[in-house]
Amino acid sequence: MANKYPNKVYLNGEWLNADKAKVSVFDRGFMLGDGVYEVIPFYRGKPFLSSAHIRRLEYCLNEVSILLEQRFAWSEVIDEAIAQAGLTASDGAVYIQITRGAAPRTHYFPQNVLPTILIYAFELQLSGFEHRKAKVLVAKDLRWHRCDIKSTSLIANVQANEYAHGLAFDESILERNGIITEGTHTSFFCVRNGVVYTHPAGPHILPGITRDWVINMCFKLNIEIKEEALPINDLQEVDELFLTGTTAQILAVTEVMLADRSTITKRTGSITSKMQQAFIEEIENL
Ligand code: PDD
Repeated sequence: MANKYPNKVYLNGEWLNADKAKVSVFDRGFMLGDGVYEVIPFYRGKPFLSSAHIRRLEYCLNEVSILLEQRFAWSEVIDEAIAQAGLTASDGAVYIQITRGAAPRTHYFPQNVLPTILIYAFELQLSGFEHRKAKVLVAKDLRWHRCDIKSTSLIANVQANEYAHGLAFDESILERNGIITEGTHTSFFCVRNGVVYTHPAGPHILPGITRDWVINMCFKLNIEIKEEALPINDLQEVDELFLTGTTAQILAVTEVMLADRSTITKRTGSITSKMQQAFIEEIENL
């Protein structure tokens, strides 16, 4: 993800220099993590799969009952964010965050409060993902039971990712009740005897947009795909592992450290490579 501040941000209807953009200390995003967000990739300034990202954002807003005053012209604002950041020829992502707004602190929803809307684009190194090999470790999935909502309350994801980062691993894959759900900010896939597996959609994973893209590509390429979760005890037996996500894209996993600190290694397999090649082709033809 981005590790420097953007120069320009959209805040509640205005484009501002980032240092002039201010939000109330009583904003419920700040106080309660009461908000949702979205991250939309762009390649050479062109948004990728943006309507699916916007659909998921609208689903999340609806699930948490944050109502925007009027219909938002999302695709225009996404283009504007890329232009404001001077990234029309670059790769990156647009970050959108919407909180319930500022109000005296209550656990219930305050009435007549305007949501806070923050949007900005940032540059990302997206090319070359097909050459990377990720090392992951297994961590407990301590998140809530509505992981399908892309909530800004990310402390369980942040703790699990920091656990990996602190040990020089790329990502944690999360285990709930003996099965792998997903990564802290990635979807999880494995390949076994030529069949691709990923955890079924539902309350225990985010329905990743890149995950959906992979599922559809499997159908197109006549590769069998099953939405079935992988028991942690079967990790040893699978042939290939990969992670997907807006920032990870399609990332081969070649090493997994289990909770007992033993390590399983994998090679980048042919199905992972096929997916990566198809993804690259689609991006090149954007
Ligand atoms: N994260 N699972 C989780 C928990 C995620 O946070 C993400 C994305 C994904 C992959 O979803 P998609 O393919 O739609 O990016 C799966 C974003 C990138 C983030 O938090 O920065």
